[in-house]
Amino acid sequence: MNRSKRWITYGTIMRPKVIFVAGARPNFIKVAPLLEVFREKRFFNPVLVHTGQHYDFKMSSIFFKDLAIPKPDIYLNVGSGSHAVQTAKILRTFEPVLLKEKPALVVVVGDVNSTLACSLAASKRHIPVAHVEAGLRSFDRSMPEEINRIATDRISDFLFVTERSGIENLKKEGVSHHKIFFVGNVMIDTLRASLPAIARSNVLKKYKLTKQSYAVVTLHRPSNVDSEGSLQNIVRVLRQIGSQTRLVFPVHPRTASQIRRFGLETIFKQIPGLVRTEPAGYIDFIRLVRDSSFVLTDSGGIQEEASVLHVPCLTIRENTERPCTVNQGTNALVGLNQKQIFSAVRKIMNGSWRKGIVPHLWDGRSASRIHTVLKTRRLCYNSTL
Ligand code: UD1
Ligand code: UDP
Repeated sequence: MNRSKRWITYGTIMRPKVIFVAGARPNFIKVAPLLEVFREKRFFNPVLVHTGQHYDFKMSSIFFKDLAIPKPDIYLNVGSGSHAVQTAKILRTFEPVLLKEKPALVVVVGDVNSTLACSLAASKRHIPVAHVEAGLRSFDRSMPEEINRIATDRISDFLFVTERSGIENLKKEGVSHHKIFFVGNVMIDTLRASLPAIARSNVLKKYKLTKQSYAVVTLHRPSNVDSEGSLQNIVRVLRQIGSQTRLVFPVHPRTASQIRRFGLETIFKQIPGLVRTEPAGYIDFIRLVRDSSFVLTDSGGIQEEASVLHVPCLTIRENTERPCTVNQGTNALVGLNQKQIFSAVRKIMNGSWRKGIVPHLWDGRSASRIHTVLKTRRLCYNSTL
């Protein structure tokens, strides 16, 4: 079926079916507000596909519980694997879903393998694709996510952008401005909607922590955790910071398995002040961030969340695809440079870190804007055919 025919069909069905794809931890947080708005407005018929890229309770189900996300309509159960194997499994299992469900649109979020695989399968079946969190670029192709971002944006029909840099990046790549929509950040929709539940969390009590007396650490980027050398460097940094403040470290499964693989369990246990935990649920995690004195991370989403919560964020990377968190928010890129890290920690401890401002349109209404665009564009397409 060619694309224009698809759009005619899309225009004549009372409630066009929209497939939302989620596979990994950050995806669940991003689809939550979209599903809520699309269900509530009753204009589209939303269907949730969970690829199974993440599958542990602490990496998947806990987010459905914490964020009241309805049970996925379809579960692909792909599990872990190399990039090629995981991407191929998703392609193979998602295509039959497209053939059976015949959606008018597929919505993918973020930059994980599930994002790329599902957008590719849909695009090859001439089904329009909307990419939420489009246009972000680290300009570092050694990051698997950068490849996923570039490829997904290239084949998507609707590019929903979180920050101005995304618009510039897409324009430089030759994308027509008709496809680009600056809507803000759905991750921040979730954060804002969850603030009352976050305020009720007992997680500080659970770990015997008091406000501002600890820092939160998260690490999972292959560049930081997949080599023994960089894990050893991280241990050195954590040892020094741990001698000044407590550290809460919810360990990602990739990181846990690399710590085991390199025989570093004991060394990690000996870091002073370190509270090592399982990956935290969303509500507890954001409460930990909200009340911490700072965050040390290599996560994408946490740079944004810390900025909105006005919590200092030190990012253990050389680059970020989210420059507004540095230019406007509370984030700084410190790499694994010990001098830079300790000078930043001193600044934070003596209270001279900037509070930052919240980036434009990170106001809790991004999912609603996306709904409006898709609803309106449907009418535009209809009238031009
Ligand atoms: C993936 C995403 C990354 C994102 C991160 C969020 C890609 C290429 N990477 O990285 O962009 O920042 O998720 O957390 O899509 N594992 C478990 N249980 C699980 C899931 C994974 O034990 O529920 C272990 C497996 O050993 C697996 C490893 O973690 O091999 C890595 O999982 P994978 O999804 O391949 O990549 P992440 O590092 O999680
Ligand atoms: N997160 C969580 N528990 C944790 C670590 C992270 O709930 O123990 C949340 C947090 O809100 C973060 C999101 O999961 O923004 C995605 O995190 P991750 O760092 O795994 O992915 P990235 O944003 O780097 O792709």
